Amino acid sequence: MFSFVDQHGLKVTLSFEPNAFLIPTTHVLVLANRQNQWLLTKHPQRGIEFPGGKVESGETLEQAAKREVFEETGAQLSNLIWFAEYMVHERKPFCKAVFRATVDSIENNSERFETEGPVWMTLQEFFKSTNLSFHMTDDGMRKMLEQVMLDESRRNNCTQTSVSKSKSTS
Ligand code: GTP
Repeated sequence: MFSFVDQHGLKVTLSFEPNAFLIPTTHVLVLANRQNQWLLTKHPQRGIEFPGGKVESGETLEQAAKREVFEETGAQLSNLIWFAEYMVHERKPFCKAVFRATVDSIENNSERFETEGPVWMTLQEFFKSTNLSFHMTDDGMRKMLEQVMLDESRRNNCTQTSVSKSKSTS
């Protein structure tokens, strides 16, 4: 587990293992991409952030993740997998599950978005962006994105290795 103090002065604990916290998970966040483009949204007050929000009554975390992404960006997802969770030690602490996913398709109907709609960025652009929501620039987000980049480079190496193996056997 990894702990840090966020920009609001709150302690946050991050885990890459499930069920690390004793309180129910009530929020979700989704790190979704299509190739090297990552799907974010612009919250009118907070700024640019990965889509997510509160789990509604009767929903699973996966349903909440898909719904929030659709409401905020119009995107449909595939390969939704649990990735991490973190607990914000507010006066009333809350726990947020973080998912990874692939963007399958995106609907261009800006009237229905709860935010200012989809924003696509490479991770290089993300790290340089000056209009990020406060929780996009904290130590936990940096740690999660380091893990994402590690996973992506492992996946690319595996693909390259299997392509070169199949070339050498053909
Ligand atoms: P809905 O889409 O309406 O569910 O709400 P939302 O998008 O605002 O939900 P979200 O889970 O993003 O945020 C709910 C509240 O929790 C907001 O007041 C945020 O400022 C706060 N919050 C969300 N994520 C974090 C975080 O990582 N750290 C801290 N300190 N607060 C957070």
